[in-house]
Amino acid sequence: MIDRVVEPVAGQSSLIIKHKNLKQWVGEVAALCTPDRIHWCDGSQEEYQMMLRLMVHGGTAVALNAEKRPNSILVRSSPADVARVEDQTYICSKTREEAGPTNNWEDPESMKARLKELFSGSMAGRTMFVVPYSMGPIGSPISKIGVEISDSPYVVANMHIMARVGAKVLDVMGADGEFVKGLHSVGAPLRPDDQDSAWPCNAQNKYICHFPETREIWSFGSGYGGNALLGKKCHALRIASAQARDEGWLAEHMLILKLTSPEGEVKYVTGAFPSACGKTNLAMLIPTVAGWKVETIGDDIAWMKFGPDGRLYAINPEAGFFGVAPGTGMKSNPNAIRTLSRNSIFTNCAISPEGDVWWEGMTEEKPAKLLDWLRRRWNPQSNRKAAHPNARFTVPARQCPSIAPEWEDPKGVPIDAILFGGRRATTVPLVVESFNWQHGTFLGAITSSETTAAAAGKVGQLRHDPMAMLPFCGYNMGDYFAHWFEMGKTAGARLPKIYYVNWFRQDDKGNFLWPGFGENSRVLKWIFQRCSGKVGAEETPIGRVPKAGDLDVSGLDMPEQSLNQLLAVDSAAWLAEIPLINKFFARFGDHLPEALTQEVKDLEERLRAK
Ligand code: OXD
Ligand code: MN
Repeated sequence: MIDRVVEPVAGQSSLIIKHKNLKQWVGEVAALCTPDRIHWCDGSQEEYQMMLRLMVHGGTAVALNAEKRPNSILVRSSPADVARVEDQTYICSKTREEAGPTNNWEDPESMKARLKELFSGSMAGRTMFVVPYSMGPIGSPISKIGVEISDSPYVVANMHIMARVGAKVLDVMGADGEFVKGLHSVGAPLRPDDQDSAWPCNAQNKYICHFPETREIWSFGSGYGGNALLGKKCHALRIASAQARDEGWLAEHMLILKLTSPEGEVKYVTGAFPSACGKTNLAMLIPTVAGWKVETIGDDIAWMKFGPDGRLYAINPEAGFFGVAPGTGMKSNPNAIRTLSRNSIFTNCAISPEGDVWWEGMTEEKPAKLLDWLRRRWNPQSNRKAAHPNARFTVPARQCPSIAPEWEDPKGVPIDAILFGGRRATTVPLVVESFNWQHGTFLGAITSSETTAAAAGKVGQLRHDPMAMLPFCGYNMGDYFAHWFEMGKTAGARLPKIYYVNWFRQDDKGNFLWPGFGENSRVLKWIFQRCSGKVGAEETPIGRVPKAGDLDVSGLDMPEQSLNQLLAVDSAAWLAEIPLINKFFARFGDHLPEALTQEVKDLEERLRAK
């Protein structure tokens, strides 16, 4: 039980900071932000417990019933701070052109000047935490180091779960190791007699700023998720994508899973899907096809580098899952539910009178009485959701029953197939295999999806989201496509096959045609067997799709007509997409690789010739 508040102590003798630049930077930030105290995070269990106690004492969190959910808390944020703020997220590269047409851009000097004003005194009355972290297993040649400075105990506790943090990271950094500098403040300074709010944030000013050239992140005003846990989207995607371009590797918004056949053969698959499109469910899937096994390596981000054998090796840079809670239940994702049995942080979920959490989709039957995420009384007749649609859980990956034994292998795992997918009611079939790497890159680049609650803004609007990286690419996406093509030309490369999937196709009445979840293993089986050349496919203008009999649908109660519809290539609908694709690609001007223009032309020709 959480019963007592422990104040962070000033300076910690157990930590020896050898890194001169780190010390200097911490000093500069302290002079700018004027916190009351500085706490260097050692990454210990005691420290984690101290963060939980600080949150409970401050009213940010409540401890959950320890018998039902040991060592777990529920946090409720402010309604003004519930999702990533894409319109306040900036890539401050030297020129607007380097950030490209899909990112907000501001000149680095003027943005720094504005930020310095905002950060000036922003931590008054608070503790400034210094969190050294490693994205990726400590010591892996693919891992990278960062240090996040934050005035939020919620951030520190989440970083403990999502990354490897503390003394062991300082050891790796030594006296002069490279690191990404991440500065975060909730932007709510306290005067001596001020009463702190339960969720301090700054409703007027939110800025999530990236400086790719100097590998820096400055995040102001939000304490929520990807805005504030800087190791995740800011470092592992936006900064890392720019670094990956410079160094010849890939930093992608992808899950990583291990697929084992009944014969014991293993293949590793990555999958890029936009936020809240079922990545976590797919990564933890329990196959309905007999004898097949899925194990989890990661659910959100993959860093991939070529190994000496020419294969692409992936690591999961994260150590935990920060998953969308609504829709996660024993039916949709039993492995996630079991993972969440303990040591979890829940954010913006509802709470029962027994002191446990609930969200839409957790159980079929709704509980009789709850307090919703805004602390209002709720019952099944209440005409509103009990949990916020972007409510989250944070939980250590090692607790997942489906975690693969090699999930922390510093070498990474060799990737056989890459999936791209979105949420599309029409047009895109259940699965398409690309003709080759260039065509696969094209399929990734034309991926579009209906928007979800993971980002602030309208839900359900169709937008292009290439490789599910639209909100996460730290440089001009035209150059990002070119980087994908370059990777395909790496000497001696043995490239993964690329697939385009869509679990969300609907019939004319708006019903999903494909059951999804565990049944997605049927698609994974086809992909696996394609990779080992053991199953057929039909060539179509958009790529190769399974022909009748190629996809294992045994035992699946599905009308043949639905299956035909799911796999059909609707040429008219695809031809209608071409002007939209051209319009999207035109935004990149002369940064658009010629290969993409050629791929659109070839697609159109194949569709017209059909
Ligand atoms: C996430 C996201 O939190 O993609 O993973 O928004
Ligand atoms: Mn994500």
